[in-house]
Amino acid sequence: MYLGIDIGTTATKAILVDESQRTLARATQDYATSRPAPGRSEQDPALWIGAVQSVLAVLRQSRPDAFAAVRALGLSGQMHSLVTLDAHHDVVRPAILWNDGRGAEQCAEMTASVPDLAEISGVLAMTSFTAAKLLWLRQNEPQLYDRVAHVLLAKDYVRFWLTGEIASDMSDAGGTQLFDQAQRQWSPAILDGLGIDRALMPPLLEGYEIAGRLRPAIAAQLGLRAGLPVACGGADVGTGAIGLGCAAPGSGFISLGTGVVYFVAQDRYAPKPDLVLHNFAHCTPGWYQMAAMLNGASALNWARKLMGVADIGALVSKVEARYAGPSSLMFLPYLSGERTPHGDSDIRGAFFGLSPASEPVDIAQAVMEGVAFSIRQADELLTQAGSPCAVPGLIGGGAQSLLWCRILSTVLGRNLARYDDADLGPSLGAARLAMIGEGGCDVSEIATPPDREEVISPFLDQIERYDRWFEAFKAMFPAVSAYSSH
Ligand code: XUL
Repeated sequence: MYLGIDIGTTATKAILVDESQRTLARATQDYATSRPAPGRSEQDPALWIGAVQSVLAVLRQSRPDAFAAVRALGLSGQMHSLVTLDAHHDVVRPAILWNDGRGAEQCAEMTASVPDLAEISGVLAMTSFTAAKLLWLRQNEPQLYDRVAHVLLAKDYVRFWLTGEIASDMSDAGGTQLFDQAQRQWSPAILDGLGIDRALMPPLLEGYEIAGRLRPAIAAQLGLRAGLPVACGGADVGTGAIGLGCAAPGSGFISLGTGVVYFVAQDRYAPKPDLVLHNFAHCTPGWYQMAAMLNGASALNWARKLMGVADIGALVSKVEARYAGPSSLMFLPYLSGERTPHGDSDIRGAFFGLSPASEPVDIAQAVMEGVAFSIRQADELLTQAGSPCAVPGLIGGGAQSLLWCRILSTVLGRNLARYDDADLGPSLGAARLAMIGEGGCDVSEIATPPDREEVISPFLDQIERYDRWFEAFKAMFPAVSAYSSH
């Protein structure tokens, strides 16, 4: 038996699997994000520990024998968060999360002081990444910065609580902008260039390597064996990929969640920061090219709230009931700014084509299509970067809508795959890392694609109309950009 725990942004999820990777039990514990000021996003690491205790209690209760027979545990977590510990290993301040917009000034500073920043770190300077948050802390809360002895990511803090060991892995280090992706180690050029003491950064392991053993007191509390091996674990994008069997070059997926991640595995490091792609280390040997969009299901949720509809399912059903090809409205989905392809936290969304006949349902359909167009732009950039993905898997909350999946497939002009239980991706990936680390097995043997796959095909008669509409989508961007900078 193996345990996988994913420290997500909105919840911690855990899964208990047997030696043949059958799911025996699963549990989720939601939590809130605090928004101390507009654009800011924080969580107290103690929330994650409480959530881990409660999900493991649920698994223990539902399968006591299997739980007691767990052989190893693996972790996954939200990327880019800044967790700070002092010399006594006490938390210095609440973690600053990936979706916190602080640090725009610091990004400009980083770009100026480290000329090769993007080439080394695999991505242009952006506020999402840990480096901007750390520099923000140094400038704005210097008394706290002076206390910082260890910089960690979310899942690393949980592993520290479980084992007492300080460490991180290549994939989470890869999302900090302080990491040399090609060399798979902290970057002396970036750390020295930014004046960050190298001693703050944890030792690095591959995601499946055993990073420590369960402390006796914690083991007794959780009902697990003392000394249980704990695999280092990885960032949720990488562990999600391992959960879906995307380790081999060219395999990939699109996660249509709050934001959108489009992931393609690679066997070499080939950064394309000018295309606003992210080229990061995978949690198993290798790298991946990623397009990351901030506006996915969150845009549809915004439309839902605006219209006073109780749930997204009800809104999507209305669109389904009268769908007959592309909407007459065009939506540019940049409600929260955008990472790929624009790298601009100040741009905002827009509707074009409103008329007295426009109805709420048109708005909802246009939102679904606008998100699909932004994914097509990402798809084109990934192909341009030499990392095309033939049949991406489709996961995340938005993938529950068959219509949205088919619109996306039509906009991309090709088939997509949809899997059962894909929401387990990161926690299953974490359990798989534990299996690889404890059993000494090969990644390709364990990280296989899910069994049940549904092929999503395009509306063939609509491909041409969406092609024309996509050209209009791109042509409208300058208007949005000019508005944002006026
Ligand atoms: C990836 C990203 C998000 C977080 C969410 O770059 O910002 O997917 O990992 O947890």
